[in-house]
Amino acid sequence: MTTHSPIKTALVTGASKGLGKEIVRRFASAGINVLATARSVDKLKQLEEEFPNHVIHFPGDISDSNHVKSMVEQVIDSFGRLDFVINNAGLAHFSPVEDLTESQWDEMMNINLKAAFLTCKYAIPHLKKTQGHIVNISSVAGTEAFARGGGYCASKFGMMALSDALTQELKPHYVKVSTLCPGSIQTEFSSNPKSYSLQASDVAESVYQIITAPANMIIGRVIMRPVVPIDFQNKK
Ligand SMILES: NC(=O)c1ccc[n+]([C@@H]2O[C@H](COP(=O)([O-])OP(=O)(O)OC[C@H]3O[C@@H](n4cnc5c(N)ncnc54)[C@H](OP(=O)(O)O)[C@@H]3O)[C@@H](O)[C@H]2O)c1
Repeated sequence: MTTHSPIKTALVTGASKGLGKEIVRRFASAGINVLATARSVDKLKQLEEEFPNHVIHFPGDISDSNHVKSMVEQVIDSFGRLDFVINNAGLAHFSPVEDLTESQWDEMMNINLKAAFLTCKYAIPHLKKTQGHIVNISSVAGTEAFARGGGYCASKFGMMALSDALTQELKPHYVKVSTLCPGSIQTEFSSNPKSYSLQASDVAESVYQIITAPANMIIGRVIMRPVVPIDFQNKK
């Protein structure tokens, strides 16, 4: 008798565009069921239409803890299990600290850090059942700070600490935690992406490789940067 492994299920935040959208597309192409969440309903619906057998959309604001709780409940209601959580939603306000507003600071902390905490908090009981995997999308800005990045870097450094604590807490439960730290990616995130910036689909491929690594291997922290053409390297 052949036994079929269950269809794996993922929750991807920030799924309406950019990297999150490409992660959903990569996962769904591989037959993984995905709950895609963000605020832009129409963009999420398009993703669901592209992969009607694998993607469901669940719009909402990730800074709202009620939304986070109900999106985790929805994954279980719709698919019966949760294997992968991809904390990808994020935004940046780049500004010197003295000019950064309190609301900009709060927005970055709420979307980039608190939402990841809340998503993990509600997802962990389900991930323990499947020996699942959390992938936190941090940034090179979570490994080295720079001028005008006081708020953004602080939120991403916070995510690194959250990841490290989760790694220790979840190790006894065989739940893996990985943190991806990309450099510049060609998305709407930056008003001025470089011509050589990473392609979102390439970064999404890395996320897929992380979640499909051999069962006895944890890919902990990955830092990736674009190859900068020599002409740009010499520019001051
Ligand atoms: N692009 C880069 O150069 C770069 C480099 C390193 C790391 N990263 C990180 O990679 C991740 C993805 O960035 P990206 O480049 O794909 O950015 P993006 O194209 O701007 O996409 C950001 C995503 O986050 C969602 N989002 C923002 N605020 C939200 C909220 N309040 N509630 C729910 N969803 C919200 C957006 O959806 P809605 O607007 O529809 O809500 C969108 O789907 C972020 O964590 C970012 O920090 C990006």
